[in-house]
Amino acid sequence: MTEIIAFANQKGGVGKTTTAINLGSSLAAIKKRVLLIDLDSQGNAGTGLGFVRSSHPQSVYGVLMGTATAAENILSTAVPGLHILPSTQALAGAAVELVDVENREYRLRDALQPIMEHYDYILLDCPPALDYVTLNALTTANHVIIPLQCEFFPLEGVLHLFNSIKGVREKWNSNLDVLGVLLTMYDRRYGITREVEENVRATFGDKVFKTVIPRNVRVAEAPSHGKPALFYDFNSTGAQAYLRVATEVVQKLENGEL
Ligand SMILES: Nc1ncnc2c1ncn2[C@@H]1O[C@H](COP(=O)(O)OP(=O)(O)OP(=O)(O)O)[C@@H](O)[C@H]1O
Ligand SMILES: [Mg+2]
Repeated sequence: MTEIIAFANQKGGVGKTTTAINLGSSLAAIKKRVLLIDLDSQGNAGTGLGFVRSSHPQSVYGVLMGTATAAENILSTAVPGLHILPSTQALAGAAVELVDVENREYRLRDALQPIMEHYDYILLDCPPALDYVTLNALTTANHVIIPLQCEFFPLEGVLHLFNSIKGVREKWNSNLDVLGVLLTMYDRRYGITREVEENVRATFGDKVFKTVIPRNVRVAEAPSHGKPALFYDFNSTGAQAYLRVATEVVQKLENGEL
């Protein structure tokens, strides 16, 4: 069975793309067949894996709008086992254009049917918005990972996101659950980090990944070299943390430890 995981948080800059790239390559490193779909017009998932944006005119935009197929837009990356369906600037218009098209909630889900069986994991990197593109991700996914930066007052937004996910589950996709909240850019030296962690674990309990992702300069540098952290600096604390998250994900999904 293909596990489809959306990385969502309407707040920008919390580590959605970084997590999608690094969890994707960690899953590929443990021999899973992984497809990463870039649903953000910023295109950071693609550039972070070394792709030049302008060379893919159709990309995920065409797939959503029904003018291209997923199969013809999927590219292999330098990471064995990791494929990508990249995005372009054109996707910026999709959230608005989707409002007027037929079957607007299920465009992505339907477009992925023909290629689904080729992958163990499909990862959906969402934009920082609760728009029609993110809705398409949430109707396609069976799980959501919510990256959360350890900073002051993040909880209100996360509670709103949990509510939105509940709404999607009730209305469009009864298979959707929150796989976990992942604490990112974690820096133990700051009191606020520990305070946020305590608060998040008290509020969301088991839904919080045991592993936290440390703030790590190698993780921040890796995309400018077009590589996931694992290939840029295998021994870095960030790369190793993402490997542990991959193990947690596999345990939860494949060994039924939900
Ligand atoms: N563990 C980390 N250590 C250091 N820097 C990090 C880490 N995780 C993410 N960053 C940096 O933080 C910034 C935001 O991360 P990222 O792009 O993954 O967030 P995002 O949620 O996808 O943002 P957006 O909402 O704009 O799509 C990036 O510059 C990234 O390199
Ligand atoms: Mg992003």
